[in-house]
Amino acid sequence: MEKLKKLIEITIKLSSEKNVENLIGLIVATSTEFLNCERSTVFLYDKSSQELYSYSGIGINKKEIRFPISKGIAGYVASTGETLVIDDPYNNPLFNKEFDQITGFKTRNILTVPMRNIEGDIIGVFQILNKNDDKFTYEDIELSKAFASISAVAIENAHLIEELKRQYELLQKAFLELQQAQETIINQEKFATIGQLASGISHEIKNQLVVIMAVDFIRKLYPDDKKILKYTEYILEARNRILSLLDEIRDFSKSKEYEKSKIDLISLIDKTIKLERFDKDLNKINLEFKEPDYKYAFALVNQDKIQQVLINLIRNAAHASEPKSTIQLSLQEDENNWIISVKDEGCGIPEEIRDKIWQPFFTTKSSGTGLGLDICKKIIQNHNGEIYFESEVGKGTTFFIKLPKFL
Ligand SMILES: Nc1ncnc2c1ncn2[C@@H]1O[C@H](COP(=O)(O)OP(=O)(O)OP(=O)(O)O)[C@@H](O)[C@H]1O
Ligand SMILES: [Mg+2]
Repeated sequence: MEKLKKLIEITIKLSSEKNVENLIGLIVATSTEFLNCERSTVFLYDKSSQELYSYSGIGINKKEIRFPISKGIAGYVASTGETLVIDDPYNNPLFNKEFDQITGFKTRNILTVPMRNIEGDIIGVFQILNKNDDKFTYEDIELSKAFASISAVAIENAHLIEELKRQYELLQKAFLELQQAQETIINQEKFATIGQLASGISHEIKNQLVVIMAVDFIRKLYPDDKKILKYTEYILEARNRILSLLDEIRDFSKSKEYEKSKIDLISLIDKTIKLERFDKDLNKINLEFKEPDYKYAFALVNQDKIQQVLINLIRNAAHASEPKSTIQLSLQEDENNWIISVKDEGCGIPEEIRDKIWQPFFTTKSSGTGLGLDICKKIIQNHNGEIYFESEVGKGTTFFIKLPKFL
């Protein structure tokens, strides 16, 4: 009765251990006391290699022992499913004396029982050595069988849980990969569609731009009218920007080296501001440039591309701003770089979308494409620069463009 109570306690203890190796350690530790013997070993059956294996030692000293199922006492029990009691192992041909010779252990008697899962399949064998001061009795055999069968169920469960965990992780990994692949495909598809769309409409837009050629004619008609000359200049520049924008969209998915030259950023900002005052997106918004103290700010850039970045940032700032507020551009320097900033007093960028705004096609606007900042980032990276922002919700946002100085 006492033994039965103890067996139930052990069953509860074993069934709460979910890690196979720990579980085997626990089986070995509890069985020697329970079955009143000197040693015990669990050999598990590896069906794929037709081998039995067990572990000796723990932690870094842990060693795996493997041998074919056709070998030794454990092998015999695993293949036949018979329980085997051996009282004089040294006279038994199945016994391997080597282990005793190496370790100095003296095996007096061995009890080996098969371990079966619920379906009755053999999953390993349970072996105990040297009954304390005695031989194994009929009761020992029965208790060992009971012990082996609760151990087998616990091992099988732990195996199943480990397998389930592994499958779950695999599934999770596959799911993530699939999600990434899907995103890439969607983006590629969007790029391809944009490319197609762009080449389709660019032809049409270019046709319409021919009308602007009339500007040349007007300039010739009024060669002395400074106002006309000034404004028509803006029109021509805008036309060129539209043309290069079309090229940019068409080449969007290909990264291309731009032609760069030594440009004064101060006059580039100046020019951009003058041009942007005609932008209808900036209706009723003040656009200012706080002129720096220094006269020139030279950098090696593609003028059109940097202008495109500034325009994108100014437009984003305008979209976030109320009428009559101010967008201020300024230029600072550090030792090696020029830092252009575009500061607005708009709604700010909420914390939760700050990581996303650089992604292509991320937009919070009903008519936005969400390509603006992605294009800006690509252009600035192409200039070995950096683009980043600071923002406070309700107060405003400042975008910074850092470009290496050209000395
Ligand atoms: N200055 C700003 N203030 C507040 N939000 C901004 C600012 N600049 C960008 N954002 C946010 O970042 C998002 C992405 O900007 P991005 O320029 O890439 O695309 P978009 O302006 O929405 O569309 P488009 O392709 O027409 O530029 C915007 O939709 C907006 O939510
Ligand atoms: Mg934008």
